[in-house]
Amino acid sequence: MRFTGQTAVVTGAGRGMGKAVASALAAEGARVVVAEVDETAGRETVDAINAAGGEAIAVVADVSRVDDIRKLFARTVETFGTVDILVNNAGIGIAKPLIEYTEADWDRQLDVNLKGMFFATQEAARVMIPKRRGKIVNFASTAAFVSSSTPETAYDISKGGVRQLTVSVAAELAPHQVNVNAVAPGTIMTDLTLRVLDTPEKMQRAAAKIPMNRLGDPQDMVGPVLFLCSADADYVTGHTLVVDGGWMLF
Ligand SMILES: NC(=O)c1ccc[n+]([C@@H]2O[C@H](COP(=O)([O-])OP(=O)(O)OC[C@H]3O[C@@H](n4cnc5c(N)ncnc54)[C@H](O)[C@@H]3O)[C@@H](O)[C@H]2O)c1
Repeated sequence: MRFTGQTAVVTGAGRGMGKAVASALAAEGARVVVAEVDETAGRETVDAINAAGGEAIAVVADVSRVDDIRKLFARTVETFGTVDILVNNAGIGIAKPLIEYTEADWDRQLDVNLKGMFFATQEAARVMIPKRRGKIVNFASTAAFVSSSTPETAYDISKGGVRQLTVSVAAELAPHQVNVNAVAPGTIMTDLTLRVLDTPEKMQRAAAKIPMNRLGDPQDMVGPVLFLCSADADYVTGHTLVVDGGWMLF
């Protein structure tokens, strides 16, 4: 039980990788705050955690709204007294060719994936700096290093921003003993991916391009994220850990 007595906030924990990470943190003793824009999905994650003997609460929050983020952290501190871990997982992908992208698409893409992460990180830092302890893990993507194979330029830009946010905030918070790292998933089978890989043929073609010959599962992210949340990573900061079955090797 690596996280007994610790409080973790996981954004977008209603499904996909956020749900897998939130459940695993709870199974290892953390009190988990499931922050979700989708109230039903958030509630389902909390019910599953509580049914398995863990401790979790759901908070409805749209991370693109700074006011929601401030309320999320106020509620967390009010309920559990502190924040030890923040997993900035919530993200969306608006896939459209460059020439079709509207200003509203751009604003939504960047507001959820990057602005939300910046201000959640700011709120977490307000709690972690005085404690001289804390772990922040951001969901970037292999799209932070190379282009997505679908036309998702603004998504790629948001994830490049997440990678740089990780570096810059890690540098700023290192003197305060707060670690800030990122993970860069490859292709993981979640609702987000199913929008694009919507037939068995497309899935097969995508899997064939991965040296390990399979698509990722949300569980594949649990070990890497929990490592970065744990005391084993006390001297690791500013790093983006690629978890892609070898896809970026070629
Ligand atoms: N699936 C992949 O292959 C893949 C690859 C690289 C990176 N990522 C990144 O990993 C993260 C998780 O992706 P996933 O595939 O598990 O996605 P998902 O769509 O399965 O789950 C994302 C969750 O975030 C929630 N969410 C969306 N917008 C929100 C908002 N504004 N505020 C709060 N919650 C919000 C959704 O309701 C959903 O429950 C994202 O940041 C995504 O960009 C995913």
